[in-house]
Amino acid sequence: MTLASAPGKIILFGEHAVVYGWPALAVPVTQVQAQVEVSDSVQAGIWIDAPEIGVQTGMGDLPTAHPLAAAIMGTLEALAPPLALPPFLRIGGSRRGISIHIASIIPVASGLGSGAAVSVALIRALSAHLGHPLTDDQVSAIAYEVEKIHHGTPSGIDNTVITYARPVFYVRGQPIETFRVGAPFTLVIGDTGIPAPTRESVGDVRKLWEADRDRWEKVFDEVGLIAETAKHRIEGGESMGLGELMDANHALLQGMTVSSPELDHLVLAARSAGALGAKMSGGGRGGNMIALVAPDLAEAVAASLRAAGARRTIITTVH
Ligand code: PMV
Repeated sequence: MTLASAPGKIILFGEHAVVYGWPALAVPVTQVQAQVEVSDSVQAGIWIDAPEIGVQTGMGDLPTAHPLAAAIMGTLEALAPPLALPPFLRIGGSRRGISIHIASIIPVASGLGSGAAVSVALIRALSAHLGHPLTDDQVSAIAYEVEKIHHGTPSGIDNTVITYARPVFYVRGQPIETFRVGAPFTLVIGDTGIPAPTRESVGDVRKLWEADRDRWEKVFDEVGLIAETAKHRIEGGESMGLGELMDANHALLQGMTVSSPELDHLVLAARSAGALGAKMSGGGRGGNMIALVAPDLAEAVAASLRAAGARRTIITTVH
């Protein structure tokens, strides 16, 4: 039996603009994890058991465009030349059956990277079980292909931060840049409980951008500047100065139409409860918001968020 897990993630700054090449910052959230267990089974073929998303089926019954099927095929193709497929029936010359159990406590479609975390854990567990653990670069590349099914035109930030499980300053198409956290800081994550597919908000921003590139690229410039300033402040241990940047980034995301009344309500509730700043995080329209807090206020801000309607809250310290 082979086990692998991957953390969730949260975007601190720069979502949406990152799709067009502007920088974004994201950090892993280790309080939530996806876990995948791969074991041999007596039956040939691949059996997939993912109760949280209602999948209990043989691989052959999954559409090829299903994210789990894509992650499995991507892994197998990386292990064996495509012509040798289907390798799950013939690995190392012998017929072999495999059973995959997927368990994730990362809420789906909420900006915590559940899809990418499942992909990363699955690719790692499967490749290790088959005797050829893939490198982080390979894992991230396959997970990126799967993200395309989830997101349409993903920037690649989710698979990157989740694969490397480090804070990442991400610019699409550029080598991965992790960054140093000069002084730890505390975030409260509040979940609206509203699932919101990233594909839709990303598609809507694309329509805005296509209709008026100059206007939206100026907005992306402002977002990018916020992300760069944030990186410098985090590295310099001036994380208390991130609050105002969060507020400014949230306002720009509102302008992109990707916030929602529920997200705005939680952002305001966090600020009234003493947060130093707050913003939506991820694709938006639902999902999560984040608030920067002094550590001793974290519980109180989390309680205020729940009183304001958050389905759940997570307190996380970024190191
Ligand atoms: O909704 P999330 O957290 O999975 O991330 C979406 C981030 C976007 O910038 C909106 C899209 C992307 O691919 O980067």
